[in-house]
Amino acid sequence: MNSRQATVRACANIALVKYWGKRDARLNLPLAGSISLTLDPLITTTTVCFGDGEHDRLVLDGAVAGPAGLDKARRVLDLIRERAGLRAPARIESQNAFPTAAGLASSASGLAALTVAAARAAGLELSPAELSVIARQGSGSACRSLFGGFVEWDAGRAADGSDSHGRPLHPVDHWDLRVVVAVISSRRKAVGSTRGMTDTRRTSPYLDAFVASVGEDLPAARRAIDARSLAELARVAERNCLRMHAAMLAADPPLVYLQPQSWQVIDAVRRARDEGIAAFFTADAGPNVKVFCLPEAQPRVLQLLEGLGVVERVITARPGPAPVVLEGP
Ligand code: PMV
Repeated sequence: MNSRQATVRACANIALVKYWGKRDARLNLPLAGSISLTLDPLITTTTVCFGDGEHDRLVLDGAVAGPAGLDKARRVLDLIRERAGLRAPARIESQNAFPTAAGLASSASGLAALTVAAARAAGLELSPAELSVIARQGSGSACRSLFGGFVEWDAGRAADGSDSHGRPLHPVDHWDLRVVVAVISSRRKAVGSTRGMTDTRRTSPYLDAFVASVGEDLPAARRAIDARSLAELARVAERNCLRMHAAMLAADPPLVYLQPQSWQVIDAVRRARDEGIAAFFTADAGPNVKVFCLPEAQPRVLQLLEGLGVVERVITARPGPAPVVLEGP
């Protein structure tokens, strides 16, 4: 094996209190904090090798990425090279175990895996918080995938972003929740999160209200997670998700990520909860809906989703670990 090569596996994460809006677009500094659960097996496995070829090269799920695809990866690589005093180009090979760019947070697992693999391949010894700061600059939500279980991303105050990173709230075994991802469409989304956030900030009169409401949602979500209260977490997570989508919908032109089928799933989950099924929904910048539930409710949730006839397929997940180095110097 090349001495400057490492392979890392990292999990995606799903936000319970959402990040939508940047105070610094270059450094990916958020307007507010957020809270997520790291998810297994929504995994990206990435190998980074320094010193091969003439240019940085990224092969994602077997296809060579163009300049746009390389952009986020290069931000991470440049930060790692700078710290390691390295100039060599990198060859990156990355494999997602789930559909890319369909609101399933593949950029979070991808950039987290890349950060840890690149640091390891470059011979850097960095703390999880330092790695989180670097991953954040590739993709904001990736800074939460540096940790397992429940994770909070502090917005931070420093202009250089050094205090804006993930931190663990509770380990992977704190609360045995299940997440059923109802895949409505595995096609790439029309408007990516970076442009979506910029447009929302520029044109949506509701973004400030959403950001202000996150101030209440963070402590409420923390309390619900501490107490393992599904009913409380359902209340906070659903209102936070709908307020984020309200801010997106109020942009000009509107950002419509949820499709009619997504609303059918949302409606079914809310009705099921009224009938005693311990489940709630959330959704990000795409049409897919994620249903959180207790393990004993999972069979009924799966039945419910299948019965709707609008779900392309389901992916089931559970709390996942921090990134794992599979191979490295
Ligand atoms: O990290 P990005 O740029 O992919 O943005 C993620 C935004 C949401 O998924 C919608 C919310 C979140 O907190 O993950």
